[in-house]
Amino acid sequence: MDQSSEEKIMEIVNNSYSKVAKKLLTDTSNCCEPSVSCCSPEVEGSTVQELSIISVNNIPTLGCNTNLIEVAKISTGEKVLDLGSGPGKDTFAASILVGEKGSVIGVDFSDDMLTLANKYRDDNKITNVEFRKGNLTELPVENNSIDVIITNCVINLVPDKTKVFEEAFRVLKSGGRLIDSDISIINPLKADLINNEQLYCACIGGAVTEDDYVRNMKEVGFENIEVRRQYTTSFTIGEEAVPYASSYFIAFKP
Ligand SMILES: C[S@@+](CC[C@H](N)C(=O)[O-])C[C@H]1O[C@@H](n2cnc3c(N)ncnc32)[C@H](O)[C@@H]1O
Repeated sequence: MDQSSEEKIMEIVNNSYSKVAKKLLTDTSNCCEPSVSCCSPEVEGSTVQELSIISVNNIPTLGCNTNLIEVAKISTGEKVLDLGSGPGKDTFAASILVGEKGSVIGVDFSDDMLTLANKYRDDNKITNVEFRKGNLTELPVENNSIDVIITNCVINLVPDKTKVFEEAFRVLKSGGRLIDSDISIINPLKADLINNEQLYCACIGGAVTEDDYVRNMKEVGFENIEVRRQYTTSFTIGEEAVPYASSYFIAFKP
C-alpha cells in the first residue's frame, strides 16, 4: 500500500473512533456501535471486573478481549504503555496494578478519544496516568523506557504494522514484553473486501493472519512469541460472512 493510501485509511479510522468518543462523551450508556468498533463478547470474571475500583468497571471498552490486564501480569512499580488507549479502561486498570511507584502512558491519535480518556482520569482522580497524542507508527515515547506494552484491538487498524512493531521494540527496555490483544483473519480477504471502510473500522479489514502477525513481530526482533487464541467468530457484511479470530500475541524484547 502506498503512503497516501495508508494516510487515507488512518484518517478514516481516526474519524470513525472520534465519532465513537463523541458519542460516549454525550451518552451515559456504555459501549459503542458494533458496526464501527471492536466491541467484544463479554468475558466473565476478568481481573478488571473483579478489581474493587468501581470507577474502572464503569469505563467502556472498545477492545476485543476483556482480560488483557490479567494476561499482562503487571506488577507494582512497572512502567506501562497502552497503544491506542481509547477510553482508557485497560490504561486505568494497569494504573491500579502498578501503584504509586509505577506509571502508565496511553497513546492515541484521536483528539476526541484523548478528551474522553482525560475526563475519566480527572473524574476518578487518577494520578499515575498520562495520555499522549500520537500515531503508533511514530510513538511519542523515549527509547528503552517501558517495561510492558499493552494494546487492545488497535494494531489491526494500522496499515503499516511493521512500523508499529519497530516502534514498540524501540521503546521497550531489554527484557520488556508486549501483550497484544488483537483480531486476525482466518483466510485472506477477498479483493472486494480489502480496504472496505466499514470492515476496516470494524477491526477486520486491516487484520492479518496469526502467522503473518507472528512473522512480522519476529522480523523486528521480538522473541519467545506466544499466540493464545480466545475465540473464533465471523462478521457479516452484505451476503458475506468473514471468519476471524481474537487472540493474544505475547512477545519479548531480548
Ligand atoms: C478499537 S479502539 C480500542 C481502544 C482501547 N484499546 C480499548 O480497548 O478500549 C482503537 C483505538 O485505537 C486508536 N487508533 C487507531 N489507529 C491508531 C493509530 N495509527 N495511532 C494511534 N491511535 C490509533 C483509535 O483512535 C481508538 O481509540
